[in-house]
Amino acid sequence: MTKQEQYEALLPQIQAVMDKNVDIIANMANMAAMLHETFGFWWTGFYRVINNELVLGPFQGPLACTRIAYGRGVCGSAWKERRTLVVPDVEEFPGHIACSSASRSEIVVPVFHNNEVIAVLDIDSDRLATFDETDAKYLERIVMLLIIP
Ligand code: SME
Repeated sequence: MTKQEQYEALLPQIQAVMDKNVDIIANMANMAAMLHETFGFWWTGFYRVINNELVLGPFQGPLACTRIAYGRGVCGSAWKERRTLVVPDVEEFPGHIACSSASRSEIVVPVFHNNEVIAVLDIDSDRLATFDETDAKYLERIVMLLIIP
């Protein structure tokens, strides 16, 4: 299966699992688990905007830093720039925050609600250049499923 086919199969599964009767933490937890299992990433999880910083949310993988300032690292930059950041080689990203030395490439996708970034989805790979425009396109669609009207 191509990556695109994997995302096409996963999208309706995630949609089916999202539960409007529970808080966003529960839905983030299942979303992180499903992405992590499907693709075998190194680290898959969320940081939520709380009191004007990013605070660690539900994730799969090794332990991670608990707080990230606005504009810091890939996560804080995606929040500040309000756009998805694809980083093929984390060593070439100025200010990258190395939670794990095994992390080689990364994608961070903002989660918007009422035009505000309320969280970011952060995915790390232990290989270089894992993520591209296909991941960006599908992950942007997937995180929208968290915002249940
Ligand atoms: N590398 C991220 C920090 C979070 S961890 O990788 C889980 C960053 O630079 O924002």
